[in-house]
Amino acid sequence: MRVLVTAGPTREALDPVRYLTNRSSGKMGYAMADAFARAGHAVLLVSGPTQLDIPEGVDFLPIETAEEMFDAVKRYIGKMDAAVFAAAVADYRPAVVSDQKIKKTGETLTLELVRTPDILGSVRGDFGFTGTLVGFAAETQNLQQNAREKLRKKGCDLVIANDVSKPGIGFDSDRNEVLLVFPEHVEALPEDEKHHLAPRLVREIERLAAERASN
Ligand code: PMT
Repeated sequence: MRVLVTAGPTREALDPVRYLTNRSSGKMGYAMADAFARAGHAVLLVSGPTQLDIPEGVDFLPIETAEEMFDAVKRYIGKMDAAVFAAAVADYRPAVVSDQKIKKTGETLTLELVRTPDILGSVRGDFGFTGTLVGFAAETQNLQQNAREKLRKKGCDLVIANDVSKPGIGFDSDRNEVLLVFPEHVEALPEDEKHHLAPRLVREIERLAAERASN
């Protein structure tokens, strides 16, 4: 298969020296890209800024902002058989990016934020993608219910849900514990290293792709 994987955080600039971001290290997405490549698939990794080495045998497209990730996905998704969205994309960005460093003025500073494009939410409708689509859901409550809602709204074949309020898993950790939410059933995988979970997740996605091809 040709597989697109998104990974890492996005960075949304405020001024020349400051930005808004999140705690994503990219480890989950890079582990997925690596596992797909090891299983013999052609991988395009679209990644926000991370400290990680690019997995061997993977095509790499670095981006910084949600808008750049949106443009990259829009450009390449048509060539793909499957897409996995592990990136933690900023949902909002500063409405105005100051040309100059913002100076200290009053005791408080109010930022106006505007929505970024919903990349996963654009894939089925706007980009017309008909391949296997896998989203992640980072939740702190109602894990299964919120993941199921994302599965339905975004037209995914699978949503991989993680409870990011649990210590030791999820954001910026080597480990994760995920719930696989399919349209018809749910499966909980035990906590493990992201590098051990990823090949297991790749096998599920291969199975979903084979099912889609046979329909
Ligand atoms: O990078 P690590 O440190 O290894 O951490 C892994 C992880 C916690 C980041 C990863 O396992 C994970 O959960 N990734 C999704 C994080 C997230 O932003 O989830 P969400 O529930 O806010 O978004 C739902 C889905 O929509 C995700 O597939 C996300 O990539 C996608 N999305 C979100 C917003 C947006 N504007 N565009 C998107 O495509």
